Amino acid sequence: MADAVVLQLPEPPPEERPVLVVDLGGQYSQLIARRVRECRVYSELVSHRVPAAQLAARRPLAVILSGGPSSVYAEGAPSVDPGLFELGVPVLGICYGMQVMAQELGGRVEPTGVSEFGRTEIRTEEGALFAGLPAEQVSWMSHRDSVTAPPAGARVVAGSASTPIAAFEDPDRGLYGVQFHPEVVHTPYGNDLLKNFLYKVADAPPLWTAAAVIEEEAARIRAQVGSDRVLCALSGGVDSAVAALLVHKAVGDQLTCVFVDHGLLRKDEAAHVVETFGRHFHVPLVHVDARERFLARLEGVTEPEEKRKLIGEEFIRVFEDEARKLGDVRWLVQGTLYSDVIESGGGHAGAAETIKSHHNVGGLPEVMDLDLVEPLRMLFKDEVRRVGEELGLPEEMVWRHPFPGPGLAIRIIGDVTEERLQILRDADAILLEEVRRAGLYRELWQCFAVLPAIRSVGVQGDGRTYAYPIVIRAVTSEDAMTADWARLPYDLLETLSSRIINEIPGVNRVALDISSKPPATIEWE
Ligand code: XMP
Repeated sequence: MADAVVLQLPEPPPEERPVLVVDLGGQYSQLIARRVRECRVYSELVSHRVPAAQLAARRPLAVILSGGPSSVYAEGAPSVDPGLFELGVPVLGICYGMQVMAQELGGRVEPTGVSEFGRTEIRTEEGALFAGLPAEQVSWMSHRDSVTAPPAGARVVAGSASTPIAAFEDPDRGLYGVQFHPEVVHTPYGNDLLKNFLYKVADAPPLWTAAAVIEEEAARIRAQVGSDRVLCALSGGVDSAVAALLVHKAVGDQLTCVFVDHGLLRKDEAAHVVETFGRHFHVPLVHVDARERFLARLEGVTEPEEKRKLIGEEFIRVFEDEARKLGDVRWLVQGTLYSDVIESGGGHAGAAETIKSHHNVGGLPEVMDLDLVEPLRMLFKDEVRRVGEELGLPEEMVWRHPFPGPGLAIRIIGDVTEERLQILRDADAILLEEVRRAGLYRELWQCFAVLPAIRSVGVQGDGRTYAYPIVIRAVTSEDAMTADWARLPYDLLETLSSRIINEIPGVNRVALDISSKPPATIEWE
């Protein structure tokens, strides 16, 4: 008897079964998937074109239909395979997703002439979605059409002054719809509603934690690479660091990391990477000191694109040399994130999987004949950080601001020389130290110093100076696509100005960049 039990195939662990977010073209589709994951339930984004049978093959715990920009009556409006309502898993339609649901299931959707945008009061009724939540609450709406009759058998459980059907549910068939957006922060009880749907309706346990991700990912990597050797380029950034640690956890010494110090890093950064990986984590690490090589190539190069191209090419050359020395390597680790996968169309099950080449090590996979290991391809950036924390990566590495592959070279306008690098490194170190001291580091997307190619006149002591200015660049942003210049406090600016000018020879002026993106970019080159 005991043998029979052991021989039975185990059920896949619950965290392997996803909540599928069907993307109907809404701007918040990714956000819905992230919110579900924040509730510790694994979730993936899929195209609305995926047939119901393929969705069923993933054994989803639930399906969520996203919002979308269309009207269900518009020509070519995105819809779903109606078979998905027959899968026997709960379905939650959000905004346009709710309207698609109503239309497919015999309800009615109409352009009522009433549109709602933004903050909207709703009155709710008891039921599964609003269990334990206030009867009157604020929701965030964005719609022109409205559901004017729910699908047969469904009960209306919320309405606003101008939209009587703001939510419906049919527990017997597992169908739920909300006209508002529970995924945005402007719906204060939105998260609670999602939890009601996930935990109570879909019976999805909150088991998807950083620790679970690490175990699953390590098992997947082991299965993928077997006993082959793996190579990883460390940049000092959080993505490559977490990717490397995951692979190291999975296959130990089969992984070799190569850290190319191109001399364009911030103060003490190279030493920090070597210390963290080599001494602390015992990851086999090749530290290539290529500082002179890069500096020599950069001599006399002032045009931004030329700088970038040259650094990218040189990086590949150095990396290839090292890979050759290591001999028989089959796999290359790449820190592709889930947002890259989604943007390139690969997030949609069934769609062609084209993967962007990694920003930091531009072009590596194409030139090197290696297969890719991508341990972060199902994770969003904030999840990568949580996994990094769980793996024991030091806080300052986990929360490090983004840093461009070409490094300080694109923050030095004009000639990149050792003398000018030294000035910028020192200014950057003072800036980061003071911003951290002011408790502002985590609030800023990025903050760094720029060294322009001009000099100006000043007076220090009794003497005239003719020296460089330092420009302070600090921005807030969600995703680097747009950014706003950060309103740093005056007393912080005062300290920065005084310290940078007094402590760094060759600097006699500090300026503040107050440009947003667009029209400026975050970096200066
Ligand atoms: P921009 O300057 O275009 O930068 O507003 C947007 C974001 O991208 C970062 N950035 C880079 N990151 N390699 C990178 O890994 C690069 O070549 C590169 N160039 C810009 C920049 O720091 C900002 O976060």
